[in-house]
Amino acid sequence: MEVILAEYLGFCYGVKRAIEIARENASPDGTSSTLGPIIHNPQMVERLKNEGVGTVASLGEMEDGLVIIRSHGVGPKVYEEAESRGLELVDATCPHVKKAQLSAKLLSEEGYTVVIVGEKEHPEVKSIFEWTQHGARIIETEEEADALPKCGKLGVVCQTTFSSDRFRSIVSCLLEKSRDIKILRTICTATDMRQTAALELAEKVDMMLVVGGKNSANTTRLAQLCATKCRTYHIETVAELQDEWMNNVNKIGITAGASTPDWIIKEVYKQCQSRA
Ligand code: F3S
Repeated sequence: MEVILAEYLGFCYGVKRAIEIARENASPDGTSSTLGPIIHNPQMVERLKNEGVGTVASLGEMEDGLVIIRSHGVGPKVYEEAESRGLELVDATCPHVKKAQLSAKLLSEEGYTVVIVGEKEHPEVKSIFEWTQHGARIIETEEEADALPKCGKLGVVCQTTFSSDRFRSIVSCLLEKSRDIKILRTICTATDMRQTAALELAEKVDMMLVVGGKNSANTTRLAQLCATKCRTYHIETVAELQDEWMNNVNKIGITAGASTPDWIIKEVYKQCQSRA
């Protein structure tokens, strides 16, 4: 039996970078913290805590020390507050998110009504919003785009992890709203790359294992996509693997969601290999 890892899986560049930056700034005396959990994976947060990087929900929880901004980014007020409180700030905002923030800021300064295409409750979208001068409309669906009143100058940016197809569809509704529309496609390719690699692998194997949180939207999406090509199981950890799944299987493919740490992927890989 052959066990094959997808060519692109697990953490994206921005999350890997943020974790490296957090590790470089760890302090055993407990004075380094990320603002919000670095990723939505409790095991990773715990591991970092043991290495000397805690988590705070707000800067008000810190009297001194060093605060690390996670890959989702934050608004300008957080930088100002850190400075006024005398906290050292290390910025691990993903460069792609930074670009979306600056694009929204520039559009706003140039007098555009800014539309952010993305999920209203996503921390990255909230951070992009904070960089606009006069606020922005956050649009998640075609219906919301249709409901937007006509306006003069319309500037559009996008949540980096938003689906390209849905962005295109929402933009086609927005084109009706203004004669002066500037569209900045600030989507990052990490999600597409992960999905494409998973689908390519799923076509070649008898069974796919998709590793990641059951509450992770991008992992669930990966599992749905793989299931269109072959028998697929979505597992959170190696403990869920079942022997009978391997019956009559020659090739197993493995992929993982954006918040799945490498060591969890390796455990699944090794366990499959040991049964090969
Ligand atoms: Fe990751 Fe940055 Fe893209 S955090 S998903 S590489 S925008």
